[in-house]
Amino acid sequence: MMQVEDLSREIKRLKEEKDAVILAHNYQIPEVQDVADIIGDSLNLSRQAAQVPQKVIVFCGVHFMAETAAIISPDKKVLIPDTQAGCSLSDSITIQELKEWKREHPNAVAVGYVNTTAEIKSELDYCCTSSNAVKVVNSIPTDREILFLPDMFLGSYVSKSTGRKNIFVWAGECHVHAGISAADVNEKIKSLKEAEFLIHPECSCTTPILYDVSTGTYQDKAVSVLSTEGMMKHVSRSDSKNFVVATETGILYRMKKQNPHKTFVPASEKAECQYMKMITLQKVYDSLVHDKYHVTVEKKIADKARRAIDRMLTIG
Ligand code: 13P
Ligand code: SF4
Repeated sequence: MMQVEDLSREIKRLKEEKDAVILAHNYQIPEVQDVADIIGDSLNLSRQAAQVPQKVIVFCGVHFMAETAAIISPDKKVLIPDTQAGCSLSDSITIQELKEWKREHPNAVAVGYVNTTAEIKSELDYCCTSSNAVKVVNSIPTDREILFLPDMFLGSYVSKSTGRKNIFVWAGECHVHAGISAADVNEKIKSLKEAEFLIHPECSCTTPILYDVSTGTYQDKAVSVLSTEGMMKHVSRSDSKNFVVATETGILYRMKKQNPHKTFVPASEKAECQYMKMITLQKVYDSLVHDKYHVTVEKKIADKARRAIDRMLTIG
C-alpha cells in the first residue's frame, strides 16, 4: 500500500502524463482536496468542467456531478473514482414519478436541482444549484406554475425568498442535511461567542432558524443561507472570527486551510456524507492509472439534459 505522500506525488505525475484535471467538491476528504486542481460547489464545478483545457476530468464528487460534467463536455473523458458514490437526494425522485407529476401540471415549468440523474435532467426546463435557485425561479414569469424538485427544504426556502405561491415542491431530502436540526444548531450557537451562523439551504433547520431570526431570537448574530461556495467566499470576506457551519463537515477542512486565524465549528459532527467520503486517494490514483470509471450519458438524454443545464449556466 502506498503512503499518502507517494500517492499524491504519483497522482500529480499521472495528471501531466494523461492530460487530466482533478475537480473536487468541497465535501471531499482532505487528501483528495489537496491533489485537486479545482475545488468548488456544484455550480462552479459544472462551469469548470465546460472550460478546462484538459482531455480527461477526474471527478471527485458524487455520480450526478460527474454525469453533469459528461453532459456539458461530451468531447472529454470524465472519470469517477468510485461508481458507488451516489446521492440520497438524487435518489428521491424517479423518472416515472417526474413524468406523472408533469402530467398532473401540464403547463408548469419544471425546475430541478443539479442533484438529479441525467435522465431526470432531460425532463427539466431549468436546472439550478443551491447558489442560483432563487435567481433561476425569479427568471420565470410569475404567472407560470413551477414544479421544484427534488429537495423540499431548498424548495421551501426558494418559495419564501421569491414570495411565489405557485411553486409545487417535491418531498425529497438529503439525509445528511435533513439530519441537521434546529436543536443542534442552537446548542452550537450558544457554545461559541460572537459566532456567525451559516446554513446550507438543504438543511431541515433552515426554515425554523429563519423564523427565529425574523422574531428576533438571534438579534446579536448574523445568519446567512448560502451554498458551499457562497460559504467559502463569505468566511474570507467577513470580519467575524467564529463561525457555526450547517452543512456536510468536509468543507471545514478548506475553510480552516484558507482562514487559519478563524474558528469553524460544525452545526453537527454527524453531518457526514458517506457517498462523498467513498472517494479516497488510492481510488483517485487507480482511476488515473486504469482510466476508470468512465462516466457516459446516452446522447439522446444528454442533448435534452444539456438544455436545462445551459439555461442555468446562462442565468448565472
Ligand atoms: P453545493 O455544493 O452546490 O452547495 O451543494 C451541496 C451538496 O449537497 C452537493 O451534494
Ligand atoms: Fe447527496 Fe446529501 Fe451527499 Fe450532497 S451531501 S451528495 S446532497 S447525499
